[in-house]
Amino acid sequence: LIGSYGEDKKMPVYVVGGFVRDLLLGLENYDIDIVVEGNGLEFAKYASKQLGAKMVEHEKFLTASLFFKDGFRIDIATARTEYYEKPADLPQVDISTIKKDLYRRDFTINAMAIKLNTKEFGLLYDFFDSRKDLKEGLIRVLHKLSFVEDPTRIIRAVRFEQRFGFKIEEETLRILHETLNGGFLEKVSGQRIRQELEKILGEREPLNAIKRLAQLKILKHIFPKTYFTSVMEKKLENLFNNLRIIRELYKKVNIFYSLLRILLEYYDIDTLKQVIKKYGIPKKFIDEIKATETRLPPLLNMIKYKIRFSDIYKVIGKPSAETAAHIMSYIDEEDSKEYFVEYLKRVFSTKLSISGNYLKEKMNVKNSVEIGKVMNELYCRKLDNPSINEEGELKKIL
Ligand code: CTP
Repeated sequence: LIGSYGEDKKMPVYVVGGFVRDLLLGLENYDIDIVVEGNGLEFAKYASKQLGAKMVEHEKFLTASLFFKDGFRIDIATARTEYYEKPADLPQVDISTIKKDLYRRDFTINAMAIKLNTKEFGLLYDFFDSRKDLKEGLIRVLHKLSFVEDPTRIIRAVRFEQRFGFKIEEETLRILHETLNGGFLEKVSGQRIRQELEKILGEREPLNAIKRLAQLKILKHIFPKTYFTSVMEKKLENLFNNLRIIRELYKKVNIFYSLLRILLEYYDIDTLKQVIKKYGIPKKFIDEIKATETRLPPLLNMIKYKIRFSDIYKVIGKPSAETAAHIMSYIDEEDSKEYFVEYLKRVFSTKLSISGNYLKEKMNVKNSVEIGKVMNELYCRKLDNPSINEEGELKKIL
């Protein structure tokens, strides 16, 4: 349909980028990026009307997104025309526009387009031997300045390499290192680096990509004080393996924070302050790190020796998802892990039916500090033994 709207508006329309790459790889991809030669906004307006989709415009970038009732989304962009071919090339202007648009992209495998207009529907535009790279499994930049223009592509290269089991092509790797050594990655805002790292965390095998970032010394340019050791790798492996359990217990877990907690281990407070500022992380993050750091060694022992839950509770209470994930990343033995998960489940399921008011009114305890202490004691007893009779236990405490 999009193609026929292209006919109506007399504009060449293409699907581009990741969708085309994945189509050729036989992989599913529902991220549809459309490029229009002509006014993309005008085209988007027309298409949204015809399809009854909601449109959100980004006028500055001449792009728009169409949102459909079923949650489906299409992004429409205008092929950038700020580059001009030599006058002699003018007759090719239609093609050169999409060609220029594709040339500005990150890697050859992401720089193909498929025409959607009815007449040429399905025609593949492969100007840069992308199909060959796709077949050979190579991540290759389109030009020498690609990483300088957008240094986040250094991280993207690793992400795609690891996702598809490809290799960064030799010359591309050379340029990547040249750009790294030129200090370009350090110039990128924390927000953009964070976005790219979060995309890695959303991949199926994030650890492989993080290992590769370390191996290629990219990680050093992101977190200069991090030493990626086999111990750190083991913790990350545990972290990723435990995510499913953590997600079952907690609705939300910020994996980026969890990753940082491992990568930023042993950082001094001043460096930590710089890091959280750069990446837009709340201040309490540092307090959490520091609090767990000192409690961790005794806590791990308590878990190892299966000390009763109430004692563990006295050390960490009900930990946040990130703290729980962090603690678990230190636990290698399966039965210790099970014990800790059991602890978390118990903390989540244990609720007192007696309230502070009951103590005040029925038991005549008036001092609120005292009430807090008694309630805490009662809670701890219930943690160790969920079947206790609360009223009976209360009498024992008092
Ligand atoms: N792109 C680029 N440089 C970047 C980011 C994106 O050239 N720094 C281009 C790529 O051509 C990419 C397209 O914009 O194909 C869309 O970007 P994005 O959605 O981030 O990537 P996808 O290739 O769709 O990858 P994914 O499968 O992870 O969504």
